Amino acid sequence: MSADGKIAGSDRTQVRISGEEDMARVKELRRKYDAVLVGVGTVVADDPHLTIKGASYDENPVRVVIDPHGRMPAGSQVIDGRAPTVILTDSSCDTIWNNVNTVRCGTPFDLVRAMEALSELGIENVLVEGGGATIASFFEHGLVDRYTVFVGAMIIGGRDSPTPADGDGWIAGKGVPLKLKSAEILGNGVLMTYEVR
Ligand SMILES: NC(=O)c1ccc[n+]([C@@H]2O[C@H](COP(=O)([O-])OP(=O)(O)OC[C@H]3O[C@@H](n4cnc5c(N)ncnc54)[C@H](OP(=O)(O)O)[C@@H]3O)[C@@H](O)[C@H]2O)c1
Repeated sequence: MSADGKIAGSDRTQVRISGEEDMARVKELRRKYDAVLVGVGTVVADDPHLTIKGASYDENPVRVVIDPHGRMPAGSQVIDGRAPTVILTDSSCDTIWNNVNTVRCGTPFDLVRAMEALSELGIENVLVEGGGATIASFFEHGLVDRYTVFVGAMIIGGRDSPTPADGDGWIAGKGVPLKLKSAEILGNGVLMTYEVR
């Protein structure tokens, strides 16, 4: 995120906040997880491929998209066949995508059931990369073990710019308590790692 706590521009489009060192860190981090997950808002805004450069189909983590209502465009890179992809939808969604495993997860969409479905597919750990609404929903459901954030040297500003935990938020005193495990300078920014208390 930026030094003022934003993860994209006020027009909700992608901003390069990370330097080379942090980009390399994220690449290595993806290797350590069975799956990399984003919400459909990130697919629509950024069209990420969520693969590791140079990795084969089997070496890549499974790409997972939470898309309850089937909003993901058919030409999205995340379903380009370069790595396995799982789409988690609401049970009422009848959208069909080619080359993906689509799992219907209740109506309304049930995040805990969705994580159980991933476990049944052999996925035991998930790196949630964003966006803000998705990360907030994982915190709301008590599904976060570790929260890692790189703070880059830039101000983005804007009351509507996305932040790492959007959604409805928590009223004063009800936020999620964290324990800082480490803080290190990485290029022109700081990498902070927290555990949920
Ligand atoms: N700087 C970074 O590292 C970074 C990383 C990722 C994203 N971003 C930025 O984040 C922004 C996108 O974030 P966003 O908050 O708008 O979208 P998002 O979190 O990517 O996706 C949110 C959507 O996903 C579905 N969803 C996710 N979790 C759900 C849950 N638990 N239950 C039900 N539905 C769920 C809902 O879709 P429906 O509305 O269809 O129900 C929801 O509206 C973009 O601006 C992008 O550039 C930045």
